[in-house]
Amino acid sequence: MALRPIILHPDPRLKATCKPLTGIDRDIRHLADDMLETMYNAPGIGLAAPQVGVMSRLLVMDCVKEEGAEARPMVLINPEVTWTSEERNVYEEGCLSIPEQFADVERPAEVEVRWIGLDGEEKTERFDGLWATCVQHEIDHLDGRLFIDYLKPLRRQMITRKMVKLKREKERARL
Ligand code: NI
Repeated sequence: MALRPIILHPDPRLKATCKPLTGIDRDIRHLADDMLETMYNAPGIGLAAPQVGVMSRLLVMDCVKEEGAEARPMVLINPEVTWTSEERNVYEEGCLSIPEQFADVERPAEVEVRWIGLDGEEKTERFDGLWATCVQHEIDHLDGRLFIDYLKPLRRQMITRKMVKLKREKERARL
């Protein structure tokens, strides 16, 4: 397993629509392992393949936060939201591709999602609370959508400007 560099916004790869996976091979299992390790290391609760430069519909997440509780690493391939609740929920969201920026985003409070697991089996589960927010945020990534796209243009531009500056500083530090 290895950590993979996380792509920072703004980047065209974070705005693109990802392609469905047609099969699960060793490379995909390797990618999922690396993404989980990268996510836990960040630390974060979700990570989508385009954030590590792989333009495929795969995401990983683990929203277990309680101290001492058992981890629940999940790998979702070709995930699709099949149902959303009318009830909505506001969470302060962040993103590993937009470090240190947070904003309230309103989304359906509960969602049902269908996906293919690493074992090749189709799965369906209903998510609520933080899990619901996380899975919707990560599926958005597969469609080139970021949480800042839900904000008012001025706020979004402000965050993007800060990120451009941060990336420039990081580039300079690397020289
Ligand atoms: Ni994100």
